Amino acid sequence: MWWWAAVAVGLAVVVVVDGVVRKAHAWYWVGSLGAERRARLPPGDMGWPLVGGMWAFLRAFKSGKPDAFIDSLVGRYGRTGLYRSFMYSSPSVLVTTPEACKKVLMDDVAFVNGWPEATLNLIGTRSFTSPAMPRDEHRRLRKLTAAPVNGSTALAAYLGFIDHNVTSTLRRWSSSSEPVEFLTELRRMTFLIIVRIFMSRAAEDEGTMAALEQSYSELNHGMRAMAINLPGFAYHKALKARRKLVAVLQGVLDDRRRCPRQASVDMDMMDRLIEVEDEGGRRLEDEEIIDMLVLYLNAGHESSAHITMWATVFMQENSHILSKAKAEQEEIMKNIPLTQKGLTLRDYKKMEYLSQVIDETLRFVNISFVTFRQATRDVFVNGYLIPKGWKVQLWYRSVHMDPQLYSEPNKFNPSRWEGPPPKVGTFLPFGLGPKLCPGNDLAKLEISVFLHHFLLGYKLTRENPSCRIRYLPHPRPVDNCLAKVTRVSSNEY
Ligand code: HEM
Ligand SMILES: *[C@@H]1O[C@H](CO)[C@@H](O)[C@H](O)[C@H]1NC(C)=O
Ligand SMILES: *[C@@H]1O[C@H](CO)[C@@H](O)[C@H](O)[C@H]1NC(C)=O
Ligand SMILES: *[C@@H]1O[C@H](CO)[C@@H](O)[C@H](O)[C@H]1NC(C)=O
Repeated sequence: MWWWAAVAVGLAVVVVVDGVVRKAHAWYWVGSLGAERRARLPPGDMGWPLVGGMWAFLRAFKSGKPDAFIDSLVGRYGRTGLYRSFMYSSPSVLVTTPEACKKVLMDDVAFVNGWPEATLNLIGTRSFTSPAMPRDEHRRLRKLTAAPVNGSTALAAYLGFIDHNVTSTLRRWSSSSEPVEFLTELRRMTFLIIVRIFMSRAAEDEGTMAALEQSYSELNHGMRAMAINLPGFAYHKALKARRKLVAVLQGVLDDRRRCPRQASVDMDMMDRLIEVEDEGGRRLEDEEIIDMLVLYLNAGHESSAHITMWATVFMQENSHILSKAKAEQEEIMKNIPLTQKGLTLRDYKKMEYLSQVIDETLRFVNISFVTFRQATRDVFVNGYLIPKGWKVQLWYRSVHMDPQLYSEPNKFNPSRWEGPPPKVGTFLPFGLGPKLCPGNDLAKLEISVFLHHFLLGYKLTRENPSCRIRYLPHPRPVDNCLAKVTRVSSNEY
């Protein structure tokens, strides 16, 4: 029976080592805070060195039970709303309730951006994502870049070509007898739209578009991968893709500088970024303009494409929702004069039920399940200390799936959005406060225009309807929603 003893001793050693390593790791980060500050920390567990909570996090997301990660914290420590952990190589506080999220999001003095270093290296260090961008500079550049993608005037200006590009895209898909990767194709479409808004002329150049698309797809692939910068790894490829992307954008920028736009009426975002000056007459450097574009072009197409796909899929799976949404669009069509070409903002504003479908999709698919900040000083939230320098992760996912806020949260139910708008902080797909997504209205407009045309004339038939879902970085079917798009009616104009 000697081997039994050996196994028992082995196990005991593992347990002891595990305990000692965890204690040492926790002490390394927490010990230096001093007894008083230590006592005010939120509950939690720093885990092992290097991995910390990452292993539990990735395991939950990769095994198809993404909520298991936060649920286990709630199970162990109660519904405190804040938990300490060690993630992406940094001591972190995870924030999971509306009040606490609101407090963090509204305070851009105590909290600056806190993306993991590896993500920052891909998306760029000279734009909004940078923790070092001064607050005034952020406000100024946001005003400059948000105005042209927000507000009725801006949206009205884009509606025409969005409408046009959506209809031609749908026609193209439906003329193919082969199934298409619906998500991949939607990404292509939303990308075309955002490139047109930011660098109009470049959208017409097929070579530039192909190079940009290729680079972005590799970049995004690397963002969900481990940050291992060795040949053969996705992160390494993504860094290469970033360099390529920067080179393509630099080329477009050089062209612009050589022959600037004459009339100010059709300035696009690139022109604006080139021309803007601060009080001291300083203009943006090329690196800043390029990082701003890298950020906007990425933020401006990924999420919109995912939400469009899920909204289509959910409607297709729920016939009563589909017919209600369709009836609304048919009613709108009836009231459009024959002389009117394409949709107007007035028609768009009538899409009340469709808007509920989109909001419910934004809640339900747990898009942007988390965003990142870091504390610039010691801050108290809900009575717990977030120490200076620690990272903060805002878990919107937990807010959107909270049964106390949303009855039957696991049910896709657009009608829950009837009535007054939700309380501030309880619906956060676009964030909140000074960093609220500047593209939220544009995103909703393009998603609506697509669904409008889809509902009036098309049908989606998935090849693998119960295909496995991958949750990082955004939930998507692993087959990218391979499906046939068929034209079922000529209702659509
Ligand atoms: C369904 C579509 C979209 C979703 C769910 C979404 C979500 C978000 C969220 C949650 C944030 C806040 C991140 C934070 O608090 O740190 C954000 C920021 C941002 N979004 Fe969006 N977004 C969408 C579409 C767009 C579009 C179409 C654009 C481009 C016009 C865009 C551009 C940006 C930019 C530039 C930021 C950074 C703002 C800042 O840091 O000040 N997004 N988005
Ligand atoms: C998108 O719309 C613009 C403007 O109407 C048009 O020039 C362009 O050819 C369209 N592209 C596609 C792929 O539909
Ligand atoms: C969002 O999260 C909930 C709760 O885990 C889950 O039931 C739902 O399937 C998720 N939605 C998607 C599209 O991943
Ligand atoms: C967009 O414009 C609307 C109305 O013009 C304004 O209320 C809203 O705050 C703006 N959103 C952003 C993100 O700037």
